[in-house]
Amino acid sequence: MTTVEEPATEQLVLADDAELDLSHDEAAARVEQTLALLDAELVGLGPVKRRVREIASLLLVDRARRQFGLASSRPTLHMSFAGGPGTGKTTVALRMAEILHALGYIRTPRVHTVTRDDLVGQFIGHTAPKTKEAIARAAGGVLFIDEAYYLFRPENERDYGQEVIEILLTEMENERGSLVVVFAGYPDRMEKFFSANPGLSSRVPHHVGFEDYTHGELVEIADLMVAAENFRFDDEARVAFSAYLTKRMERPQFSNARSVRNAVERARLRQARRLVELHRPLNRDDLITLTAEDIYGSSLFSSDPDPEPPIE
Ligand SMILES: Nc1ncnc2c1ncn2[C@@H]1O[C@H](COP(=O)(O)OP(=O)(O)O)[C@@H](O)[C@H]1O
Ligand SMILES: [Mg+2]
Repeated sequence: MTTVEEPATEQLVLADDAELDLSHDEAAARVEQTLALLDAELVGLGPVKRRVREIASLLLVDRARRQFGLASSRPTLHMSFAGGPGTGKTTVALRMAEILHALGYIRTPRVHTVTRDDLVGQFIGHTAPKTKEAIARAAGGVLFIDEAYYLFRPENERDYGQEVIEILLTEMENERGSLVVVFAGYPDRMEKFFSANPGLSSRVPHHVGFEDYTHGELVEIADLMVAAENFRFDDEARVAFSAYLTKRMERPQFSNARSVRNAVERARLRQARRLVELHRPLNRDDLITLTAEDIYGSSLFSSDPDPEPPIE
């Protein structure tokens, strides 16, 4: 199960009067590449991108210090990603894993995502093995615990979630394991979770906050997603999509960029149906273009006051 990817850590110690040029450092260049990719693939998220860059700088300097043989403890890398659904937490976790791997803090750039059900057993004695198995699967990489607060149920005195938290704490302290844990979920619930678990909180020094996207950012995200799949909105379609978003944002279960992705996929379905029903030869432009019709076909625009799902 464990992969044999070697950490990039160098053991050699530089002389006291040596110089280390980060602009010629291979690992530093890979980190810079990942940061550039993050900038390009994600619209907005300025504060998140800055936090990721800060953490990367901390680690680059820590690594440079080790190359000079300067002793200090390994930085604590456990993180919390607080934000609503579809705000980019999973995407950023994948990039963060690449950065940690490039700098030798984890052995593999993999992210193993779990939720409460993957960790907590139904019966007494089932929780510890389940949690340990999840940890073993994530070993050497990142363990991403989505909706982490479901581990903690204060109303239930002997909830097995508490056992998970205790096992995690032990693992998180263990430096040899090189396991990095990311706790993710809604900001308000994450805050309560950490204040109810101070032991855990003190081992999670890096907090990254993901804001909901603005309407303008969501339109930009749609443009990016559409272009990435070799499609484009024509002018009326973009107006229509903007109107769609205004409606969708007010609906329950609005999930930021994930709702945008779903809406784009549904528009593609409608485009395909429209094209097939044209019964004429199709040109490249036909195949690329999403029209207003493909957007206004959504049930969000129908006169039915209470449309059945799908509501995207
Ligand atoms: N800022 C953004 N720009 C472009 N696409 C984004 C952005 N944020 C999220 N996405 C896309 O939206 C989808 C959901 O993102 P994800 O990282 O899974 O969110 P979360 O984990 O917070 O629910 C993914 O397809 C992702 O690529
Ligand atoms: Mg996610």
